[in-house]
Amino acid sequence: MRIAILGSGSLGSLYAALLSQVEDVELLIHGRGIHGAHMAAHGLQIEGLTTQFLSNKEVFFSLEEVGIPHHAFGTIDFALLTGKAGQTTYLAELAHQLLNFDGMALCLSNGLGHAEQCVEVLGPHRVFASSSTHGAWRPSPGVVHWAGKGETVLGSLPGGPGETEAKPLLDALSTAGLEPSWSSDGLATLWKKVLLNIAINPLAALSGVENGALLHPDLFSSAFSTMLEGAAVARIERVAIPSDAELEQQLRQVITATSTNICSMLQDIRAGRETEISALNQAIVLRGERAGIATPLNQMLVAMINALRSP
Ligand code: PAF
Repeated sequence: MRIAILGSGSLGSLYAALLSQVEDVELLIHGRGIHGAHMAAHGLQIEGLTTQFLSNKEVFFSLEEVGIPHHAFGTIDFALLTGKAGQTTYLAELAHQLLNFDGMALCLSNGLGHAEQCVEVLGPHRVFASSSTHGAWRPSPGVVHWAGKGETVLGSLPGGPGETEAKPLLDALSTAGLEPSWSSDGLATLWKKVLLNIAINPLAALSGVENGALLHPDLFSSAFSTMLEGAAVARIERVAIPSDAELEQQLRQVITATSTNICSMLQDIRAGRETEISALNQAIVLRGERAGIATPLNQMLVAMINALRSP
């Protein structure tokens, strides 16, 4: 089975390194920037929950700055889009070139709207809903620290492929230790992950803390209240999300499992990169406005995160 990892930041690199250990999986890893160049030249080191080195001779690394060789086009069975929120349409177009006739794609990026963008480019019959709660960060180029074991959920979207089509990928993810499961309600899968990210990411980023610090009662209550604003929007959109009590339990569980992780938004702010706030809390605010629901906490977090990047 041939898998392409498109967008190899912290999460994409982690998935690439773990999947590279699975027999019968051939990988193409597409990266960019200093981290991508480092991987292509020297390989990839994983540390933290496991120690592993992925040599640049074991897999095919391609670079955005150089381009993907044409002989790879039309050869990929599954494309995993793991880039930043703003890259999804571009990466879906890349997937369109790389996938074979029966090939399928999924997007593990944080935020709302990614599955729709993939469907727009690839068609509904080739796109799974998906989410990941694994926590990873990059201490230096070419190195990824796996800080929190989470899970990978794949799910079906209207008109999309089902569990049978996902089986080979679910098996590979399981052998790789990426804890996959299948959901018959892909939309709920996407929303459950977004509700976690809107609660964790901006608060951890603004406070400059590892995820575990959000277990402090004051911060936890702010995170959970932010989550509940998002849950109200999801429910008005008729998404079948869990009860408030279950959401609270899931929030506590993910923060605990990723307690030593530096969340992606804090990593982005420290690196001077654009954050994913527009696909997360900003998306909640806009959908809330459309539905007539006030989301003041989310609005405040958007303003504060954006103010950090203003001159
Ligand atoms: O964005 C992140 O950092 C991750 O999605 C998560 C699960 C919140 C862990 O930090």
